[in-house]
Amino acid sequence: MSELRRAAERVLLGNWTGRSTVPSHSLYPHHWSWDSAFIAIGLRHLSPRRAQVELESLFGAQWQDGRIPHISFSPSVPRDAYFPGPDFWQATTRGGVESSGIVQPPVHALAVWLTHQADEAESIRRGFLARMYPKLVAWHTYLRERRDLGGRGLVAVVHPWESGMDNSPAWDEALARVEPAPLHSFTRRDTDHASDDDRPTDLDYGRYVQLAATYRDHGYDDARTPFTFALEDPCFNALLIASEHALASIAEALSLDPSRHVTAAAELTSALTTLFHDGIFRPRDLRAGQPRAEDEQTTAGEQAAGRLVEVDTVAGLVPLIVPELPQAKELLATARGPKFRLGEVRMVPSYDLTGPAFEPGRYWRGPSWFNTAWLLHRGLVQRGEHQAEELADALRADVLELAGSTGFAEYVEPFTGEARGARDFSWTAALALDLLRPSRP
Ligand code: SER
Repeated sequence: MSELRRAAERVLLGNWTGRSTVPSHSLYPHHWSWDSAFIAIGLRHLSPRRAQVELESLFGAQWQDGRIPHISFSPSVPRDAYFPGPDFWQATTRGGVESSGIVQPPVHALAVWLTHQADEAESIRRGFLARMYPKLVAWHTYLRERRDLGGRGLVAVVHPWESGMDNSPAWDEALARVEPAPLHSFTRRDTDHASDDDRPTDLDYGRYVQLAATYRDHGYDDARTPFTFALEDPCFNALLIASEHALASIAEALSLDPSRHVTAAAELTSALTTLFHDGIFRPRDLRAGQPRAEDEQTTAGEQAAGRLVEVDTVAGLVPLIVPELPQAKELLATARGPKFRLGEVRMVPSYDLTGPAFEPGRYWRGPSWFNTAWLLHRGLVQRGEHQAEELADALRADVLELAGSTGFAEYVEPFTGEARGARDFSWTAALALDLLRPSRP
């Protein structure tokens, strides 16, 4: 275990760039939003101060409207090292940071709270929570006020990259409505660094580019952009709920009234319930336009367009992280059932093992990821029941073994544990480092 710790620390030290950490020097050479949050959760054990700086530097790219862009570009990296780079997004913050214009799941308040807890004295000395709190509030306010596109109190993602699970089969049907950008109009860089078989197809990439270009060409204005892709994702919203709970803790630590965050968490948890179907949470496609039977009981005001996508992915299990989730028992049964086989296969597959689109090695279409395993581990530990704790212990052991055996792979095949995607991947190292600690959430 001490060897694993040293190896994980080496990855984090190697990927540190002075004020932040790259997910991978080859595939992702800039500063990514949800990566940064997961990285801080591990980095806090190596250097609490560095973990604080990691998050502070990410929030240095916050837009005036409160959004945290999914990538902040590093000026020291060649402009064409990553596609789509700064010349594509054409977005510069007031502070002069070039960034993308879309967002990623809001794990940040949780990361800030856990980072604070790692060294409270240093956090207080640096005024970490006091500086981060208003920024986190502005971030959540952006999401809840500008991105409730369905009017149900849930946040919608407007690009598959915003879900963090870019290539998930849950997006296939919605993406099929998007006219792809012509292949000759852009040059992918990701396949320079990872196998074509592990990455999204060219057709998918053409659609990603088209969606991002439309948002950009409407000034990233959520009220003005004609979004052809708009879905309420259970993982994104569950992480927002977990982060609202964290904001309540942060407010209390600052002697502020936490009640607005407690209320927000309760409202979001109740809205999330509308995504629960057949033992799992499913995304709602707001552009499908065909209300289904399960929507019939909603009130007139709630009959916004949209229907649940009948595709089961790990995003639908992540709500296990929501404290006191009413559907937790059924969700756990689904995780242990034939679709995900928790406890029987390596970590947690990203997509239904029995589903027609299952591919064991392709980006988010089957492989197991370390961040979702970490989230489910946390959810299981929070349950505080004997059986859930046993599953949590087994998942933890699997994460630690695979992190070491794969050289901190980005993701792994769920049956063999074979490495896929990038190696020396920062959040894999960070989350392994976190789970090396016996501490409970
Ligand atoms: N995850 C995307 C990529 O593969 C975008 O953030 O580049």
